[in-house]
Amino acid sequence: MISQNTIQQIQSRIDIIDIVGAFVKLKKRGTNYLGICPFHNERTPSFTVSPAKEIYKCFGCGKSGNSIGFLMELEKYSYVEALRWLANKYNVEIEETEMSPEHKLIQSNADSLFIINNFAQQFFSDYLFNADEGRDIGLSYLKERGFREDIIKKFQIGFNPGDRDRFATAALNAQYNIELLQKSGLVAIRDNKPADNYRSRIIFPIHNQSGKILGFGARILKTNDKAPKYINTPENEIYVKSKILYGSYFARQAIDKADECLLVEGYTDVVSLHQAGIENVVASGGTSLTQDQLRLIKKYTNNLTIIYDGDSAGIKAALRGMDLALEESLNVRLVLIPDKEDPDSYVNKVGAAAFNEFIIANKKDFVLFQLNVSLKDAGTDSVKKSALVNQVAETISKINKAEDFTRQQDYIKQCAELLKIEEGGLHALVNKFIRDRITKDENKQSRDDANDAFNNGQSPADIENDALVLLNKDEEHEKAMVRSLLEFGLKEWDNNLRVAEHIFAEIDNNQLEDLIDNKNLIALVKTYKSWYDAGLEPTSKTFLYHEDLAMSTLVVNVMDYNTDISPNWKEFYQGKIATREDLYKEEVFSTVNYLKLRKTKRMMDENQREMEKEHTIEEQLMLLQIHQHLKQIEIDLTRALGTVIFR
Ligand code: UTP
Ligand code: MN
Repeated sequence: MISQNTIQQIQSRIDIIDIVGAFVKLKKRGTNYLGICPFHNERTPSFTVSPAKEIYKCFGCGKSGNSIGFLMELEKYSYVEALRWLANKYNVEIEETEMSPEHKLIQSNADSLFIINNFAQQFFSDYLFNADEGRDIGLSYLKERGFREDIIKKFQIGFNPGDRDRFATAALNAQYNIELLQKSGLVAIRDNKPADNYRSRIIFPIHNQSGKILGFGARILKTNDKAPKYINTPENEIYVKSKILYGSYFARQAIDKADECLLVEGYTDVVSLHQAGIENVVASGGTSLTQDQLRLIKKYTNNLTIIYDGDSAGIKAALRGMDLALEESLNVRLVLIPDKEDPDSYVNKVGAAAFNEFIIANKKDFVLFQLNVSLKDAGTDSVKKSALVNQVAETISKINKAEDFTRQQDYIKQCAELLKIEEGGLHALVNKFIRDRITKDENKQSRDDANDAFNNGQSPADIENDALVLLNKDEEHEKAMVRSLLEFGLKEWDNNLRVAEHIFAEIDNNQLEDLIDNKNLIALVKTYKSWYDAGLEPTSKTFLYHEDLAMSTLVVNVMDYNTDISPNWKEFYQGKIATREDLYKEEVFSTVNYLKLRKTKRMMDENQREMEKEHTIEEQLMLLQIHQHLKQIEIDLTRALGTVIFR
């Protein structure tokens, strides 16, 4: 276990902008920062980070949390791993209260898979360098291909022995779980017995952006028609092919520096280019790029250069994904490697300098390249050609950011020439595609606005389901009470009491269940009370870094995002607008009493229903008395609430 002292040290140094900013490009907007959400696909940024509150929230997909939660969500870290990552980042020495529990016992599959992969990588690397078979077969093969030892070590390349189950036995002896070993793809059951899946193969570990191993690509040594050249990790909790770019961990900084990302097909292409000093390179594995992969690239640069072997089948696949890239406003260029070489063999043949020169001299604009290919394809077929005109117009219409305007005009001119059509006609066609899409986007935007309004507790006109709105508004009131406890609990209520004490005097633990429906909110208040009673001074931050992720997420959701007043307003009112801070007593009063009023109304309803049933005279009198009593409470509460500002 990591000591509380260490955790506090880490917490005190956390800078959420710094942490989230390592993964997402953030722009300052008022007091918050805005970026493209890393958790869902979006074109306009709705991912908000509040440095003051140390939380993030995406108004598109709803994901929210603190710095630790962010790392857990994005990198699939456990709580402890996230802390370790942060400790490392901020140079905090980790103090353990007891020996960390056996790794093997860690529950979550993702955690375990990372651990298994790590064990496997070490086993394979060790075998490559230290076992006779590894050296004679694996290492000599790699050296023959020209890979240097330092590069082999950097990429943690290894070798899986040729025996039936040498790795499987080692892993099982080390107490790794057989189901998880199968899930990892490293071990398979053959003839009812565990066996190595990658026998006699060179092993390329595949790292995520922070260097942890997601899975492996295992290359056969000799070309063999029956067996596949590469066996890759099957999809599992951590290996999600559509999100992986091989080499991204080693390329991050170089991409940033060069402001360009080179994309190649294969593992060996990445490794060889690195060896030649070209480090801003990642591989797609020969399939078309997915939106997730494009987003990964776009975090670092807007310039994507695809370097493919001229007659590879992969080139078609790569081209297919490129409309998406244009939409993302990426500048896509293409370099085809000649003479049936691939980047790996070509750089080995001509050397680093000549390779670089070749890339610079042969970068072709992707849109024009695609058009040329398609034109050849269409030949004199006029139907095909008119389809092509449409397709080109649509592609160009996707280059539609204000800053790309000149580029778009250029394309229209050049494409019209290539297609031998009127420039004005193509222009009109492009505009039509743009208009169509704007209409579509506007419809979507107004739906999004409605959702936002909904989330803020206002009732949008176009939400028909009133019941649902009411239900949610109801919960908003519960949240509002808890929020005022979290934010103002330690402030003074009167001469004797602090706000928290006032609230707990008004609502004791038993009443809590009557007043609040949401079980999680009840648990939160109870936790607050137990901490407070124990002499702690809980704030929203205490909860924010609670080990229980559910608890910290709940706190984020309760916390207020919309208190930032625009600077213009401040100027306009010359700083005289009251803030929530100024009116905290009113807020506490009204949120507590609102819940009481709601409860009273509910009891009256219940009583009313009871009165409608058949009763003895005595019972009827009783119910009537209850009604009058409740009515009086309702009147008092309403009157009291009427004197404070309702928000
Ligand atoms: P290549 O066949 O071009 O292999 O496949 P390579 O990377 O150049 O390897 P060497 O140089 O021949 O040793 C390109 C990529 O396609 C994926 C791998 O990611 C490979 O790196 N691939 C290829 C597979 O996943 N399975 C296969 O059977 C073949
Ligand atoms: Mn190759």
